[in-house]
Amino acid sequence: MKIAVVGTGYVGLVTGACFADMGNEVICVDIDKDKIKKLENGIIPIYEPGIEEMVMRNKHAKRLSFTTELKEAIKKCQIIFVCVGTPPKESGEADLSYVENVARVIAEVMDSYKVIVEKSTVPVETGQQVAKTIRNYNVHKVEFDVVSNPEFLREGSAISDFMHPDRIVVGCETEKAKEIMRELYEPLHAPIIFTDIKSAEIIKHASNSFLATKISFINSIANICELSGADVEKVAEGMGYDKRIGRHFLNAGVGYGGSCFPKDVDAFVGIAGKMGYDFKLLKATQEVNNQQKKRFVRKIEKSLWIIKGKTIGILGLAFKPNTDDMRSAPSIDIIKELQNEGAKIKAYDPEAMEKAKEVLKDVEYCTSPYEAAKDADALVIVTDWNEFKELDFKKIKVLMRHFLIVDGRNIYDPQKVKGEGFNYISIGRKDV
Ligand code: UDX
Repeated sequence: MKIAVVGTGYVGLVTGACFADMGNEVICVDIDKDKIKKLENGIIPIYEPGIEEMVMRNKHAKRLSFTTELKEAIKKCQIIFVCVGTPPKESGEADLSYVENVARVIAEVMDSYKVIVEKSTVPVETGQQVAKTIRNYNVHKVEFDVVSNPEFLREGSAISDFMHPDRIVVGCETEKAKEIMRELYEPLHAPIIFTDIKSAEIIKHASNSFLATKISFINSIANICELSGADVEKVAEGMGYDKRIGRHFLNAGVGYGGSCFPKDVDAFVGIAGKMGYDFKLLKATQEVNNQQKKRFVRKIEKSLWIIKGKTIGILGLAFKPNTDDMRSAPSIDIIKELQNEGAKIKAYDPEAMEKAKEVLKDVEYCTSPYEAAKDADALVIVTDWNEFKELDFKKIKVLMRHFLIVDGRNIYDPQKVKGEGFNYISIGRKDV
């Protein structure tokens, strides 16, 4: 099938490359000329394991191309995926101007039946707005369908999540659109849930919000464990065997970040409020998450006594491992708070350093975890990159000024670290 994918960010690029890999002819469109030029030359503007190889393979097979010409792409393709950004406005609401603009151009250009697929995470009832916009600007009065097909891609495992989804959600209103989407996704042999458009949009918000709530729940349990002397890792293990709960997303830490959870939870609270429902549960999810970062800084302060003048080595800046994405990364608030208290910050991240430099100033960016540990009064784990899990503690000990490790992701065994001669502080577990 011929597919246009509008927007080549984390979602659009993965979506386009994967559809091409499934044998479709895909045109990826972006207004950013520089980004398109890089993509045409095989330079991938995001870090996502496997994406570079997949893009190159499909470019060479002439199944995947890149352009800034949106109108051309619309004319050539029957299916148009809208994967443009829906960044949060000051109010927390999603900015849908990019979505509206694409809908308007599609309406002005299309001269044959089209399926316009909304993949960007959008508030419920956006599908209606897109359909209304297209109707209003439908110059050639051609038939079209709007479909909601939310993405459930996790950064760092987006290709695997696309190719092996737990489920595909398709919100549409006609049999014609349903059959086209069924044919498109058939090669994945995954469960496809067909719903109305609004339900599909709610499934996305509800899924993300539930996952965020699960994280804030285990972080609250961790805080209770700290007060009671229990071990949150054991509690999570014991809870996780219950199939109704599940062990995934029960990892206590410094809290969630990323381009989705914070934004989606804010937007969902706003959408519900506009409808007249006060989403208290989600407000609590947000509050726990915000407090978790503050609690973590207090934990560092308690173990150092005075932060002012101290050197703190930070390991991990990205909002999660296997990505370079710094959007709403917990490291941002944590480092800024430590700097406000007068700490000197040295930091290392395997992938996110360049993007971190845009948001975190007055930081000494290091080339390895060992350089970040050199002369540090505390070594602080903020992102659970695998490469931090096997550090050479003997080498670390020689480098540090003070033997303190503060682990915001519980990646170490407390007794092992203690045995190496460190004071070890973590989340929801006894200090050693
Ligand atoms: C999320 C959803 O998982 C995905 O389905 C949706 O399409 C997009 O948003 P993503 O934000 O890429 O994906 O990463 P995810 O792996 O969900 O982690 C989000 C944040 O939660 C990260 O900061 C991570 O560190 C944190 N997290 C995750 C926890 O703190 N504890 C956990 O147990 C799991």
